[in-house]
Amino acid sequence: MSSITVSVPASDNSILDNGQGVIDPDVYFQINQPPANLSEFETKLSAFVDLHKEQGNKVVLITSGGTTVPLENQTVRFIDNFSNGTRGATSAEYFLEAGYAVVFMHRQNSIQPYHRHFTHSHLGFLDYFEAKEDGSVQACPQYADKMRKVLLKYSEAKKSNRLLMLDFVTLSDYLFKLQAGTKILSRLGERAMYYLAAAVSDFFIPSQKMVEHKIQSREGGLTLTLDQVPKFLKPLVSNWASKGLIVSFKLETDTALLVPKARQALTRYGHQVVIGNMLKTRKQTVTLITRESEKVLSLTPEQLESNIEIESKIITELVQIHEYWMSSGHTK
Ligand code: PMT
Repeated sequence: MSSITVSVPASDNSILDNGQGVIDPDVYFQINQPPANLSEFETKLSAFVDLHKEQGNKVVLITSGGTTVPLENQTVRFIDNFSNGTRGATSAEYFLEAGYAVVFMHRQNSIQPYHRHFTHSHLGFLDYFEAKEDGSVQACPQYADKMRKVLLKYSEAKKSNRLLMLDFVTLSDYLFKLQAGTKILSRLGERAMYYLAAAVSDFFIPSQKMVEHKIQSREGGLTLTLDQVPKFLKPLVSNWASKGLIVSFKLETDTALLVPKARQALTRYGHQVVIGNMLKTRKQTVTLITRESEKVLSLTPEQLESNIEIESKIITELVQIHEYWMSSGHTK
């Protein structure tokens, strides 16, 4: 049986990197191919942003789900991560309820706002419906009420053109779209919020180092060498989206690291908010950190029992922070 060993040494891109084995974000865009649908992505997003700019609406760009890292140029295999997009999809609904227009930039086939109530439950899609004698299909009576409520909210978001769905798959796809997308949103100035909940790979194989064809198993065990992905928050904060409110996420598995690493990110990148969450408790507690404050948001067992979602608390806080940011250019 073949085994896979993943080793992560410094890059050998000595001409291109910063001396620490990490290439510059600008160089990344020069040496990797943009996705084929980038201009379609830009056209759709531009039209959405211009519409909401004209209407004076606040717009949030939500990134959601995980990026893949292909192992072959003609990709059969790739590295993925655990994120299924619950955080982003749930947050999108609360932002829409709070009056925002939402750009939902998500991993293809990950969890989607509103649909999530039915696509990711213990039931399959068809279990919600029954075929009637008269040839029609209708929602089973026990689910109809919930379906109607969710459907009305979804229809309203679509009718008012306040939900734009855009997808990505690979790391490269994500990074090109993140750069293009944040630059387009920056037309909105302070009225834009960037809510970076996607789980972005920290390691990748540059396309020029990747094999073209499917890796053959007959050659025995496989050792992969991955380069480090440059941190894109730096140019995002300084150049691409400098006026909007930028919220990044920090995921940890060691509690002792959570707040220090979040603070380090705020200092290093100079943005406004980091939301810290632990892998195991991310659905019931998060810590919202700004340069001036630190607030733990948690759900009680009773709230969890009655299906209250932590994102309802996160978005309530962020809406207030954004209001203050728009009026003063600061966070409290
Ligand atoms: O989707 P779910 O299953 O609901 O899970 C939600 C979540 C746990 C994925 C989400 O809440 C979360 O924490 N998302 C961020 C996870 C993460 O990638 O953390 P990080 O420490 O690797 O990155 C921190 C920040 O740096 C991120 O906001 C990311 O946008 C940014 N980053 C990451 C990599 C990279 N090369 N450049 C970056 O700028």
